[in-house]
Amino acid sequence: SEPLRLGIAGLGTVGVGVLKILRREAAMLTARTGREITVSAVSARNRGKDRGVSLDGYVWEDDPVALAARDDIDIFVELMGGSDGPAKAATEAALKSGKDVVTANKAMLAVHGQALAELAEGNGRVIRYEAAVAGGIPVVKALTEGLAGNRITRVMGVMNGTCNYILTRMQSSGLPYDEVFQEASDLGYLEADPNLDVGGIDAGHKLALLASIAFGTRVAFDAMELEGIGRVTIDDIKAAADMGFRIKLLGVSQMTGRGLEQRMAPCLVPAASPIGQLEGGTNMVVLEGDAVGQIVLRGAGAGEGPTASAVLGDICDIARNFRLPVFGQPAGTLTDVQPASSTTP
Ligand code: NDP
Ligand code: HSE
Repeated sequence: SEPLRLGIAGLGTVGVGVLKILRREAAMLTARTGREITVSAVSARNRGKDRGVSLDGYVWEDDPVALAARDDIDIFVELMGGSDGPAKAATEAALKSGKDVVTANKAMLAVHGQALAELAEGNGRVIRYEAAVAGGIPVVKALTEGLAGNRITRVMGVMNGTCNYILTRMQSSGLPYDEVFQEASDLGYLEADPNLDVGGIDAGHKLALLASIAFGTRVAFDAMELEGIGRVTIDDIKAAADMGFRIKLLGVSQMTGRGLEQRMAPCLVPAASPIGQLEGGTNMVVLEGDAVGQIVLRGAGAGEGPTASAVLGDICDIARNFRLPVFGQPAGTLTDVQPASSTTP
């Protein structure tokens, strides 16, 4: 069959990771999908930057929107980031010009996912985003594929590795928040806008996407109760430990009689529980279904290899012509959200 041709916009941590796997594992990917997967064109801001991976054989496009609309690509792989701007413009251009889209961009999807999914459906295309939620953990696939026979009753978890690093490091070192925040910054863990991490926004974006898949509701980041970790003091951490608890930035979503509950906030969890024992930059997602019971997924929520792993999973699904709708059901059929917090019990 014909090769599957990619256009990749964004050659940072994730984009480079994707290129490395494509180069290293070309034969394996062809054997697994039945199609050769090639890269036609790439885009980033700085053409002269050494990225530690060869770009030989790829057309360079300065403009990601032009890349997305090229005739010689089948999938537009969006790995630039940002909720608006070039990421959104290029994703729209790709869908309108008949390309499927794979993205890791939770910020864009949490805000514009509904409209983009409807645009994809209208054009007979798919948009896939496994990497956007909990990095290397295949939680979108777990919900949309493996658990398709369940009514999901609850989704919860730790979905921001940076916050988990800060909270566990405060616990283990006894250092105050400001010092550990600075450590995380020195280690390069924080997003360019640190408030996306410590304000709980990044984790909230991920929870909003999962809640939409789990409960068949529109993506409703705007209806989430959100609190970050900036007010957690070392005294809070110590008091929690004295009582046998850990403080974690925990997201919980469930459908209640009053509507959809979506909460992302620092919570006390038993120190001996799986979430209480979750260390460092790791993520954990707990899924509960009426038939299956509870499933715990744990793994790397960020980083070159884990995130690229999830992007490749989506590319391979499209290569196999496995074309699930983005939220596990068509975006046009998702119900509106009645936020549990805004209604009286
Ligand atoms: P980086 O900042 O490392 O890379 C971003 C890339 O996009 C760079 O190559 C940059 O170009 C390019 N870029 C930025 N703006 C433009 C533009 N206007 N036109 C063309 N290219 C542009 O980001 P990451 O690789 O870390 O993240 C990419 C996406 O993946 C984001 O949506 C992020 O949220 C998501 N993600 C990242 C994870 C991670 O562990 N890093 C985990 C899960 C999701 P240049 O290099 O020339 O500056
Ligand atoms: N800033 C995010 C985190 C990156 O710390 O989990 C992965 O989405």
